[in-house]
Amino acid sequence: MGMTTTPQILLGQTLGFTANPFADGVAAAQHHRHGAVLVEAGHVAWVGPADQLQKPPNAQTTDYGDKLIMAGFVDAHLHYPQTAMIASWGKRLIDWLNDYTFPEEARFGDPAYAATIAARYFDLAQSHGTTTMCSYATIHPESVEAYFSEAQARGLRALAGKTCMDRNAIPALQDSAQSAYDDSKALLEKWHGVDRLGYVITPRFSPTSTPEQLNALGALWAEHPDCLMQTHLSEQLEEIAWVKSLFPAACDYLDTYEAHGLLGENAVFGHAIHLEPREKDRIREVGAGLVHCPTSNTFIGSGIFDLAGLTAAGHRVGLATDTGGGSSFSMLRTMAAAYELGQLNGAALHPAQLLWLATQGSAQTLHLESNIGNLAPGMEADLVVLDLASTPAIAQRAARAETVWEAIFPTIMMGDDRAISDMWIGGARRTG
Ligand code: GUN
Ligand code: ZN
Repeated sequence: MGMTTTPQILLGQTLGFTANPFADGVAAAQHHRHGAVLVEAGHVAWVGPADQLQKPPNAQTTDYGDKLIMAGFVDAHLHYPQTAMIASWGKRLIDWLNDYTFPEEARFGDPAYAATIAARYFDLAQSHGTTTMCSYATIHPESVEAYFSEAQARGLRALAGKTCMDRNAIPALQDSAQSAYDDSKALLEKWHGVDRLGYVITPRFSPTSTPEQLNALGALWAEHPDCLMQTHLSEQLEEIAWVKSLFPAACDYLDTYEAHGLLGENAVFGHAIHLEPREKDRIREVGAGLVHCPTSNTFIGSGIFDLAGLTAAGHRVGLATDTGGGSSFSMLRTMAAAYELGQLNGAALHPAQLLWLATQGSAQTLHLESNIGNLAPGMEADLVVLDLASTPAIAQRAARAETVWEAIFPTIMMGDDRAISDMWIGGARRTG
């Protein structure tokens, strides 16, 4: 663990971004067929054509041949405590929460169980190429401790918060307005800004918080405005109808957050599928982030997120697995699902846009874009090395490719953890 002091040179194909491909097209991507990355003191010091690299005399070189070196994936919304119940059959959101999710989350008061699942989750996420994750924990402070302890030991840049619920959940999973405030505050003070960790104030969603709890968390956020605040917004129509009945004075779902101090530039809203025009305008006005969770939106039957419309309107959008409402730990599979949903919506996403969403897009949504999510000088060296021929099916298609995008797209559509050839975390090569 820790930073490697010897300068490291990585050779291979390289891919980074100089702009946003949703605004500026494919020219926003910078690809070097025979590229080199110089890593020094945990950061990317230089990227360019290998024949232009000025080699530090004591550097160590790793030659990845034809493989693709790029920023590690950033999963902007997931629930690590749902790792063991991913792919639970046959329910829509509210029944899925009550029947599968809450009983599993109730186990996380046990620190040993929380530690076991946290380690399992990080093993799975990293093996799929994810280097930063923003997770919900459970209501138990122990679940947050387990997550941050494990992330810290792995040297990861990772975010999470205690999930707060004081109504409409089983008694074992309910805190109170006061305990949610107190526990969140204590965890925030202990973990926020420690190493590469960040605390996220986390009311689960309006249906499971009283107005008093939302107010308490709004007050905590006002005291710590540099923290992110994450929650769910407008995922399913039944949920939206329920929110309207629980908050009769609110003009829409977003208003249930705004009225309690839970809307701002550092807010991150998961799903955001069935937004009303006022909600879209207001979110853009304050600059809050939205997170597209495509495998979850199909798996739980939620609907189609308007990625093309929202990005064109200037919204900040990230990409996420939403494990375990999502059906995969893989950001490659998640990009494929985003592509498929885009097709259903009449917009074919370019591979550059998909890869940008899974790295810079997510990083921007989490306000970490100057630290992670791009292969560029100054960025923290959280990198993945992709094998673009990881299965026979992918290899035979990639062999036909005439452009870099044709070479990458089969891995986006058909790739899984076998495509993740290597990983660097904070400038250190991942071992084991
Ligand atoms: N809405 C409230 N809680 C959850 C959750 O755990 N998963 C998903 N997908 N939606 C939610
Ligand atoms: Zn979620």
